[in-house]
Amino acid sequence: MNNTRTPLIVGNWKMNGTLESIQSLLTGIKTDTETLNNIQIAVCPPAIFIPYTKDMLAKTKIAWGGQDLSEHAKGAYTGEISGPMLQEYNCRYVIVGHSERRMYQQESNELVAQKFAAAIKANIIPIFCVGETLQQREDGITEQVVGKQVDAVIEHDSCALLGQGVIAYEPVWAIGTGHTATPEQAQEVHAFIRERIAKYDKKIAESIKILYGGSMKPDNAAELLAQSDIDGGLIGGASLKSADFVAICNRANAQAAV
Ligand code: PGA
Repeated sequence: MNNTRTPLIVGNWKMNGTLESIQSLLTGIKTDTETLNNIQIAVCPPAIFIPYTKDMLAKTKIAWGGQDLSEHAKGAYTGEISGPMLQEYNCRYVIVGHSERRMYQQESNELVAQKFAAAIKANIIPIFCVGETLQQREDGITEQVVGKQVDAVIEHDSCALLGQGVIAYEPVWAIGTGHTATPEQAQEVHAFIRERIAKYDKKIAESIKILYGGSMKPDNAAELLAQSDIDGGLIGGASLKSADFVAICNRANAQAAV
């Protein structure tokens, strides 16, 4: 973790929760992170729970966001949600290009770049996910894949636009599997991403936050967050239990204080 980039811990709830369960989850997070001043915290609930989350988190430092948005601002796109709609509910963030969407909704690098631009246009910070599959890692093409994903946004949008977002490196083989990347494996790709961006703009490479995601838990968070190019976490499974999510926030907060 680097002192000039305030660490960010984001909960990605995916398609989980009921009104009852998120009430207790949010109450726990709200109460137990009140004194953490060294980090930023956000949760990304399913879209239908965003209004409720907004009410629950009003007057706290915790931000909220969407898990996806349309590349269009409005129109005949049944089932989609636009950036301006998320903005009406004061979403500070929106996840774009999560590997589950790349996989199940066939989202291409090009579409993800369009969604990234749509988020910025709506004044929402995109959390732009990149990462390789197990096969790609075994084939030795991790850097090629991740480099291409990063380049897609820079080429479609611009490096300056990329700099307004947050990147999340999430090796697909580590998501929801319990097989987290080792701190060294993660750091290697994070450093690679920063170097890749530096080819376009050194300042942006230095200032952009790069979160790690993929089975981050209370017992491995400290080691991961200690890496110089890891600026926080995008947490799936462990963000559904307030004690676990808060424990990760506590570790990030303690490290940021050093
Ligand atoms: P996980 O999910 O923490 O459950 O591995 C991370 C993510 O998909 O963002």
